[in-house]
Amino acid sequence: MEVVHDVVILGSGLAGLRAAVEAARVSSDELDIAIVSRVQLMRSHSVCAEGGTAAVLHPEEGDSLELHAWDTVRGSDFLADQDVVKRFVEESPKELRQLDHWGVPWSRRPDGRMNQRPFGGHTFDRATFAEDKTGFFEMHTLYDRLQRFARITRYDECCVTSILIDNGIFQGMTVWDLTSGEFFLIRGKALVIAAGGACRMFAFTTYSLTATGDGMAMAYRAGLPLKDMEFVQFHPTGLVPSGILITEGARGEGGYLINNKGERFMEKYAPSKMETAPRDIVSRSEITEIAEGRGFSRPDGLDYVQLDLRHLGADTINERLPLIREVAIKFAFIDPIEQPIPIRPAAHYCMGGIHTDIDGATPVEGISAAGEVACVSLHGANRLGANSTAECLVWGRITGEKAARYAMAQKSLAPAPQQKVQEEERRLFEQLGHGNGSEDVFVIRTELQRMMDKNMAVYRNGPDMEVALEKVRELRTRLEHVKVIDTSRIYNTNLVALLETINLIDLAETIVLGAIARTESRGAHSRTDFPNRDDVNWGNHTLAYYIPGQEPRLDYIPAKITMWQPVERKY
Ligand code: FUM
Repeated sequence: MEVVHDVVILGSGLAGLRAAVEAARVSSDELDIAIVSRVQLMRSHSVCAEGGTAAVLHPEEGDSLELHAWDTVRGSDFLADQDVVKRFVEESPKELRQLDHWGVPWSRRPDGRMNQRPFGGHTFDRATFAEDKTGFFEMHTLYDRLQRFARITRYDECCVTSILIDNGIFQGMTVWDLTSGEFFLIRGKALVIAAGGACRMFAFTTYSLTATGDGMAMAYRAGLPLKDMEFVQFHPTGLVPSGILITEGARGEGGYLINNKGERFMEKYAPSKMETAPRDIVSRSEITEIAEGRGFSRPDGLDYVQLDLRHLGADTINERLPLIREVAIKFAFIDPIEQPIPIRPAAHYCMGGIHTDIDGATPVEGISAAGEVACVSLHGANRLGANSTAECLVWGRITGEKAARYAMAQKSLAPAPQQKVQEEERRLFEQLGHGNGSEDVFVIRTELQRMMDKNMAVYRNGPDMEVALEKVRELRTRLEHVKVIDTSRIYNTNLVALLETINLIDLAETIVLGAIARTESRGAHSRTDFPNRDDVNWGNHTLAYYIPGQEPRLDYIPAKITMWQPVERKY
């Protein structure tokens, strides 16, 4: 079976929904648009975004586009492309106002204007928020907006298994409908990949279980290069032991980080910004406190420091941080009104992703990428909090419009790649699905996650990363001997787990290799054996190219410096 649409969107988070709305709007609902998602649409990981969306909304109070751009460039440790940053800061206020008009219930000031809170690395309060459920409300608003368009088809709970490209042109995607078991081809003139990041390769993470980097891995194997994969962000406040996000908004509202002596230790590491320093710096500070014996130990190794909100008082916590309170009570059995919250750095965000230009275009005609799956080079080596939901909106709009215009201009579709579809169906259900070896995919994934937590976390070094590379290769070999117990085609979570783990391992290899090669420390990539930033040799983006059966080929392109030369980064 095959279905045909004009524009196909892979992923139903903030970037995907924003792209869909824009493609429908630009074409006056003329184009036939598909949204394909691994999950029921409103279960996309974007609903977990908590603390805010960054934009300059109050220039009359001293904020400016230039200041937001400078904060982003400095936060990126001078690896962001500065033309991209300029475009971002100009576009994000428009997106926030657009969402305001579409109905996001922003938290407001007493005079009715949209409220903004401090966030890490920003020199002005510009994280625009809706309590501590910002992503949830933004997603609902975009979902609501989608209902206005007649020609949008949803493929929820559909697992895309491959992206098909021929001679540099998008041909379609093979899709496995988990609810019915059907396997089919979706063809389209244009594709927007908006399928999220890959931090589920770590055990202690803020990610949803379903965010396994599938779109990124499939694009990579289809020939699209991945950029800057070695840069993985650790959020300073993952709730111990689950890893659930405790928003940076809690520190933005005035929360303290304290060690086992009750000291606000950020005073030593970032005296001017304290708890609202950028995430890479706060995460390193926490790990240093723990390593030097000023943390709290746990038998499972998830040693922690504390986030203290008690002085904020019940009213502020209930009004501004209700989700955080609920999560702390339900998952750590403590009420933050009365007790500090146990936290430690958790894998939170991939700065790397599918290489795109400033318009979100990939090197393949008809395919663009937006949101966390993409690397447009906005965040460089370290993303500032609240810049990611804004990025999803800005490049969701840009790529949605671009895809619509491309589809409207195309007279015909690329030919249907029937043979590739048949081969993929065989690979899936006859080879992988009938795997009968002695390995358990869940054991392999757990080993990958534990290894990544141990060897590829906040601090890295050459020997540990070499061990990581060996382990990734060992796990890949063992994946060939997995036994798939469930042989059905309907809701076969066993086979889905195998596909996800293949994806995570391919992506882990690009992270480890990129990190070994980068002999410097920059942003979230902090090497104890190369502790300094090296602008002479490493002011470059890494590109990783997939080569079947071999290790990825790495290449480099210079970061674009258009406004500020690199200087020492101090807070
Ligand atoms: O802490 C947070 O609310 C996360 C925000 C972000 O990653 O941008």
